[in-house]
Amino acid sequence: MKEWTREERYKKLSDYSDDYMEELAKRVAQSPFRQHYHIQPNTGLLNDPNGFTYFDGKWHLFYQWFPMGAVHGLKHWFHLTSTDLVQWNEEGVALFPDTPYDSHGVYSGSGFVKDGQLHIMYTGNVRTEEWERVPNQIVARMEADGSFTKFLPPAIAGKPDGYTDHVRDPKVWKQHGLYYAVIGAQRTDETGTILLYRSKDALEWELMGEIDAGLPDFGFMWECPDLFEIDGKTVLLFSPQGIEPEGDRYHNIFQTGYVIADDFRMDELKLEHNGFQELDAGFDFYATQTAESPDGRRILTAWMGLPDVAYPTDSEDWAHCLTLPRELAIKDGKLIQKPVRELVALRKEKTVYDAGLLSSEKTIERNGGNCYELQLDVAFPTSADHAPVTLELCEDAANDKRFRITLDPSVKKITIDRSRCGIPFAEDFGTTRTLTVEQMDAVKLQIFVDTSSIEIFVNDGEGTFTSRVFPQAGETGLSLAAGSTIDYSLEIWELA
Ligand code: FRU
Repeated sequence: MKEWTREERYKKLSDYSDDYMEELAKRVAQSPFRQHYHIQPNTGLLNDPNGFTYFDGKWHLFYQWFPMGAVHGLKHWFHLTSTDLVQWNEEGVALFPDTPYDSHGVYSGSGFVKDGQLHIMYTGNVRTEEWERVPNQIVARMEADGSFTKFLPPAIAGKPDGYTDHVRDPKVWKQHGLYYAVIGAQRTDETGTILLYRSKDALEWELMGEIDAGLPDFGFMWECPDLFEIDGKTVLLFSPQGIEPEGDRYHNIFQTGYVIADDFRMDELKLEHNGFQELDAGFDFYATQTAESPDGRRILTAWMGLPDVAYPTDSEDWAHCLTLPRELAIKDGKLIQKPVRELVALRKEKTVYDAGLLSSEKTIERNGGNCYELQLDVAFPTSADHAPVTLELCEDAANDKRFRITLDPSVKKITIDRSRCGIPFAEDFGTTRTLTVEQMDAVKLQIFVDTSSIEIFVNDGEGTFTSRVFPQAGETGLSLAAGSTIDYSLEIWELA
């Protein structure tokens, strides 16, 4: 693997020739792990979704991008637009790290509409000669030709007293005629928190203080905060770093989760809730961002990857993708996530339809590759002895390689196991993940398989597992096995 020097990581995109970038893109396009229907970079590394906004008849979505290879180097914002959340047009780089206030990276931020124009607020990352970090929060406006005007000096220059230089990722919204922003921060005692700012014009910002979410010592840094309402309740979503594993929870290097408050008193900054809950139970899910659709839905997307973890495509000079867009709702005090309904546009022919009773193993015959949507409904007849059911994806002919999903009704748990799936990676963080499911007399799984990812929605979004996988040639098989009798149906759509 190539070792990147600091100089190489901070070299400007303009220092590379167009030919060089074209060659790189051609090489990346040869990768066997390129996705079919997920947002991915043409070269280099993608991380957080940014600036997700519906504006002027279109969705705007940007991602953190280092163009030259699979490392966290000099970050840009790459811009995409869509009318349906399914087909995305690449608009190119929207923001370059080209001012003294963002010289070492255009870091994460969000979008909002002001005076009929799309605006964004992001963190300009600066490193001094001594390599000390300086965070600036910068507002920019999209002009009619799609270019961006940065308003400088920054709206918020440097860090406020009481915090380290880890202050970033502003998420802006408008409420009661004022603009508000939540910003992730680290206190000087090295604990994570979220700052709340407000502004009349989105240019001059006043620090209201820290949001008191009653989690005074919960990790060393909180990244990518987001605050929004669903059904009159306030949801605070963020990505805390430094949480230790606890039972089945928190096994990824860093977490993403939320708290829900019945009533958030903004002036008092107090957010009372029933505890932090992890949002996704899979291996690769981080740095979420939400946006509101014109019809009032709260749509979420996330980075399908994690910082400080090596992935098999790193050696191919590209890495990561975004998750499918999901609609959020609150049910029984929990956030549920459903794939947005627009995604049915991806469906082509339904290739397999199977149903009935099963009490042994069954291979599902199909010809396609790893690009499909699968729906499995399983009912456990009440009198049976409730043995586990396993669904295997990405199997090879010898059934040596596979991604295994086990439904265990006796303990009401679902476990995913990627220990023998494709190219192994990130094994230091464990090779299984487990989710407890309240109701297991009947289970519904909706699964989106793309070349190198598996997204599983359990019981209409009550739980999700989001994971990258790197199956190799021929690892496209599928089988279902029941230890005792189940009543099931299985449907598969090939996806465009
Ligand atoms: C989260 C993050 C953000 C930061 C960005 C830089 O993955 O670390 O906090 O703004 O990535 O790319």
